[in-house]
Amino acid sequence: LMVPKSLIMAKDDDVDLGSGKSRVSIFFGTQTGNAEGFAKDDYAADDDQYEDKLKKETLSFFCVATYGDGEPTDNAARFYKWFTEGNEGDTRLQQLTYGVFALGNRQYEHFNKIGIVLDEELSKKGAKRLIEVGLGDDDQSIEDDFNAWKESLWPELDKLLRGEEDTSVVTPYKAAIPEYGLVIHDPSFISEKSMDSNLANGNAATDIHHPCRADVAVQRELHTPESDRSCIHLEFDISGTGITYETGDHVGVYAENHAEIVEEAAKLLGHSLDLVFSIHADKEDGSPLGSSLPPPFPGPCTLGTALAKYADLLTPPRKSALVALATYATEPNEAKKLKHLTSPDGKKEYSQWIAASQRSLLEVMSAFPSAKPPLGVFFAAIAPRLQPRYYSISSSPRLAPNRVHVTCALVYGPTPTGRIHKGLCSTWMKNAVPAEKSRECSGAPIFIRASNFKLPSNPSTPIVMVGPGTGLAPFRAFLQERMALKEDGVELGSSLLFFGCRNRRMDFIYEDELSNFVDQGVISELIVAFSREGAQKEYVQHKIIETAAQFWNLIKEEGYLYVCGDAKGMARDVHRTLHTIVQEQEGVSSSEAEAIVKKLQTEGRYLRDVW
Ligand code: 2AM
Repeated sequence: LMVPKSLIMAKDDDVDLGSGKSRVSIFFGTQTGNAEGFAKDDYAADDDQYEDKLKKETLSFFCVATYGDGEPTDNAARFYKWFTEGNEGDTRLQQLTYGVFALGNRQYEHFNKIGIVLDEELSKKGAKRLIEVGLGDDDQSIEDDFNAWKESLWPELDKLLRGEEDTSVVTPYKAAIPEYGLVIHDPSFISEKSMDSNLANGNAATDIHHPCRADVAVQRELHTPESDRSCIHLEFDISGTGITYETGDHVGVYAENHAEIVEEAAKLLGHSLDLVFSIHADKEDGSPLGSSLPPPFPGPCTLGTALAKYADLLTPPRKSALVALATYATEPNEAKKLKHLTSPDGKKEYSQWIAASQRSLLEVMSAFPSAKPPLGVFFAAIAPRLQPRYYSISSSPRLAPNRVHVTCALVYGPTPTGRIHKGLCSTWMKNAVPAEKSRECSGAPIFIRASNFKLPSNPSTPIVMVGPGTGLAPFRAFLQERMALKEDGVELGSSLLFFGCRNRRMDFIYEDELSNFVDQGVISELIVAFSREGAQKEYVQHKIIETAAQFWNLIKEEGYLYVCGDAKGMARDVHRTLHTIVQEQEGVSSSEAEAIVKKLQTEGRYLRDVW
């Protein structure tokens, strides 16, 4: 949070603020690490402990991201559930003063829902709101929103902590640049084992912090050569890893930066790829406090490995990263321009030259070659931790207990600066060598993330699935599961699948499998929208409108509706279409239709897996 150290010391320490003792705690709900970045001097991390801790706190801040379809992040899910359910009339938090900063994106339907709800619930439970909820918008600049929120927070905090009578002048707060302590080792010091010590072995539970390496068993292209895009079918071999999953779950994959990118980064930092080093949470002399976050990698490691596995080198740098770079620029002009980009006067230039241009950290560093920060600063303050990428698993464990299938569209295209942006994980999957082709196969640390995108417990319940493009992934898993049920003699309810692609000759992925599911009666009807075959765009929602009565009849009594794919375009348009169909089919007003759709959602019969 870049909270001044006078307020936050180390973990559980009480801070003496003159007149009495106060402690501030910061809670963060993070998925990609952004919220964590904002709450650098954090105090509580595991939601297991939230409940007890919260009741003891008198001053707390919450940095919470809203993820996917208006859901809390994984690490905040239990807390959020506990907090928002069944606590009616609970005023136990009267002792607490709080502030909430929400992280989200205005393009999504449920903009900052989790932060807003948390803020309201805290107030309902008797806690005192110190400052209006901050609404961080990733579509513009979360960092600017956060800085603005912080500016209005300081005076309120001052008033609260110093008491009204104390009028002494306060020196302005200045954030220090986080830094890890750095030790350079003799190259012989390296041991591969220590580098991968955060990998779970076959018996340990895997999660985001303890992924398990899985080999790539199968990799193939799903588009035909006529297509100018690429979509990869990839199978991870999970036999012997202890990993299990359920139909509808997600897999998190830690891919590595491409070798070219890693080499360029090492050059810009002015070190050899073979340099062996380690970093520590505290500086060598133990003070001042560097970064309170644990280092992103364990033990000594080569620079090549650290850059490949742990540094996000392609995302546009945050302003705080530019501040850190400016500090180390030896060319005065470079330092000046970097500082300008982070200043209020440079706001427009930052949003154009960096954000809108999607200028990567490496591009920025190559524009300011004199800025060669020490590695302890680079890993603490400049390059964010490389995050796992999530995919909806496209297989069912009933059919493939030892495999996790992924269906991944390649992210590839020019950015406004002319750089060709190659998506980190999709490029890795595109280049992955499967075990069926070579004994030297590719592999990656992976883990499973549970989801609530599940088939109805009764297989005879009707279902409607809407999944264009790679939105088909979880439905392939659903259909495999239904196929297995059918083979066991279970009676299946009706099912409709709406799929969409550009052209049947190019990107009709898994076409043979889908027609087999139809032949076997696992799908009652497959309806495909081809967007680039005719003169007019045909999308899944147009096909839904054409079959409105059939569509709504399946859902309205007891059926389930599932939508998977792009949240900002497709899922939003399908949602509007659903609303229109309910209005027309039921002959009700717009607000009554809205209530019916809401009810479907709260009953868990309208589920979305969107990104
Ligand atoms: P397009 O690329 O021709 O625009 C899978 O990506 C399919 O989803 C493609 O056929 C794509 O069409 C289509 N698509 C793009 N935007 C959509 C939207 N807002 N609603 C539904 N389908 C969409």
